[in-house]
Amino acid sequence: MLEHLARKWARKETQPIPEELDRSGKIPQHVAIIMDGNGRWANMRNLPRVAGHRAGMKTVKEVVKVADDLGVRYVTMYAFSTENWKRPRDEVDFLMKLPQEFLSTELKELIERNVRIRMLGSKDELPSHTLKALIEAEERTQDNTGLQLNFALNYGGRDEIVKAFSMMASQVKAGELDPEKLDEEVISRYLYTSDIPDPDLLIRTSGEIRLSNFMLWQLAYTELWFTDVLWPDFSREHFYQAIVEYQGRARRYGAV
Ligand code: IPE
Ligand code: IPE
Ligand code: MG
Repeated sequence: MLEHLARKWARKETQPIPEELDRSGKIPQHVAIIMDGNGRWANMRNLPRVAGHRAGMKTVKEVVKVADDLGVRYVTMYAFSTENWKRPRDEVDFLMKLPQEFLSTELKELIERNVRIRMLGSKDELPSHTLKALIEAEERTQDNTGLQLNFALNYGGRDEIVKAFSMMASQVKAGELDPEKLDEEVISRYLYTSDIPDPDLLIRTSGEIRLSNFMLWQLAYTELWFTDVLWPDFSREHFYQAIVEYQGRARRYGAV
């Protein structure tokens, strides 16, 4: 048993099996990613945690390219959770500067790729410089028709649901929403993802097997894929591995 697991994991960590990747086969329409392990990647190198976040930006760049080349339509990256404010002030400040830094160097190329950028999360608590960079990127790419890149920033799955319920409650009170007509489709319309299909595949790096408050509603029937690889080390080959495994999954949605 252990030997079997060891072999399985060895295979996971070894290099790609691109010939198994069926490019004409099932490509997930929407890939959601919990980019985790930046801090540990830096610790292992005796670097400050923020060096891991900077290294992680390169991975974001690479993954967008790979996903786009494969024909993935939506990529959602978990960049900062509603719980990440609990981190040391310096680290939070650094993370809040990353969107500007990323967009100042990457926006041009993303526009050339016809990528559309969106922010998912609560805008209220964000520093104005962070918000400004994101809004600018959203505006400059709003007419792009290629891959949609969503940054989940100051995002919490429960927070999103609370905000949706609170909006619905106000509208019910104002007579604008019929409480008799509430169903899954109506609730979905009040989420940040109102115009985005649910993820087909969720990837989480760094060996943590949990959702950490990510897309709780939307992940109901998503295929989950976990890897021990730390986010800054996550490469094109790892992405292919996830897709290959996805292609081998049978999605039943409760049916037979
Ligand atoms: C993920 O890496 C990035 C964010 C949560 C912003 P971490 O910073 O969580 O890295 P670890 O988990 O401490 O290694
Ligand atoms: C989840 O990672 C949040 C992001 C990747 C942005 P965390 O590192 O914050 O999650 P926990 O604390 O390990 O659950
Ligand atoms: Mg972490």
